[in-house]
Amino acid sequence: MLIGIPKETRPYETRVAATPETVRKYVLHGHRVTVQSGAGTAASYLDDAYAAAGAELVDAPAAFGAELVLKVQSPTDSELPLLKRGAVLVGMLEPFNAENASKLAAAGVTAFSLEAAPRTTRAQSLDVLSSQANIAGYKAVLLAANLYPRFMPMLMTAAGTVKAARVLILGAGVAGLQAIATAKRLGAVIEASDVRPAVKEQIESLGAKFLDVPYETDEEREAAVGVGGYARPMPPSWLTRQSALVHERAKQADVIISTALIPGRPAPTLLSVETVQAMKPGSVLIDLAAGRGPEYEGQRGGNCPLTEADKVVVKHGVTIAGYTNLASMVASDASALYARNLLDFMKLIVTKEGALNIDLADDIVAATLLARAGEVTRKA
Ligand code: NAI
Repeated sequence: MLIGIPKETRPYETRVAATPETVRKYVLHGHRVTVQSGAGTAASYLDDAYAAAGAELVDAPAAFGAELVLKVQSPTDSELPLLKRGAVLVGMLEPFNAENASKLAAAGVTAFSLEAAPRTTRAQSLDVLSSQANIAGYKAVLLAANLYPRFMPMLMTAAGTVKAARVLILGAGVAGLQAIATAKRLGAVIEASDVRPAVKEQIESLGAKFLDVPYETDEEREAAVGVGGYARPMPPSWLTRQSALVHERAKQADVIISTALIPGRPAPTLLSVETVQAMKPGSVLIDLAAGRGPEYEGQRGGNCPLTEADKVVVKHGVTIAGYTNLASMVASDASALYARNLLDFMKLIVTKEGALNIDLADDIVAATLLARAGEVTRKA
């Protein structure tokens, strides 16, 4: 097959959907690979390395014009017409964005959105949410350490003792757990909160304290278990108690990293304006849900309404960072892991002989199929 790798053009996107390592593997399997010149430059994969791996370097129309196009993010409106009708497109295509799915369907492509893969053992090697969230959790801590005007570890020096930073992690999924592990390595004292009871042990095994908000009703208990490993919106009664606890702990925190998300819905508000007002001057919030929270004063915040997407702002003495694409700040490794996720997904839709085979009896293929033959195939 002819596989095309265009350069990503969306703001803040530095990743690329194939690395020389994965290109070499596609070529070994008998595919022809075209890479848009400069596609990997921002991720430190240079054109020469792609050429050495067997790729042909081409321009954007040629890369988009392949039978199978591998992308990081969904094509922009001006890129969509470059796709051939009947081509296959694989990427992070925003499965909950109905408008985008309709555009892909109208472009006549067979589109697979890898964020929609089930969280099963078989799907682990192609789990793009995990591979990228892991990186985001790591980078969030390093950014916090940079923005925080004090040390992270406890230090005993001749000039006096410095206290360890107190880090509060809200949401202990893939990103939150990596943030705990990274903050631990820097010597911080860590507390973490999540709705899902299953994470308590994971939080504690990483050396952090679990902030328990006990369930008081069956409704709360059932909502907390979630669905498919994901959180569901919690009843207001539980959220009120969680909010009171978070408010108390936020007052003591030096750094907060919030990662709470609920698939297909706005991110929950965990840090109110009043909570930020009560935080210590110089403390730092890295809000990984930036741009995905409810609307507040004309823009979408994150887990905190004061977060501004893709900006670092200081409000009430607290530095709030709303980077929306932290994985892109670790572009080389983020691309390497993402490209391997795609390589593994390709094994499900391309036979050993190199032919396309879309088998909807395969739960991963069925779950990720977003559009086909002009129709949106997945409900947003
Ligand atoms: P996510 O990115 O959708 O959400 C982040 C975290 O926010 C989750 O842990 C969620 O429970 C939490 N959250 C939501 N509302 C909250 C609230 N009000 N307060 C505090 N926390 C809140 O989650 P992610 O990281 O994608 O993980 C989802 C699940 O998938 C997890 O159970 C994870 O263990 C599982 N998983 C399974 C894999 C597999 O078996 N293949 C691979 C990776 C993850």
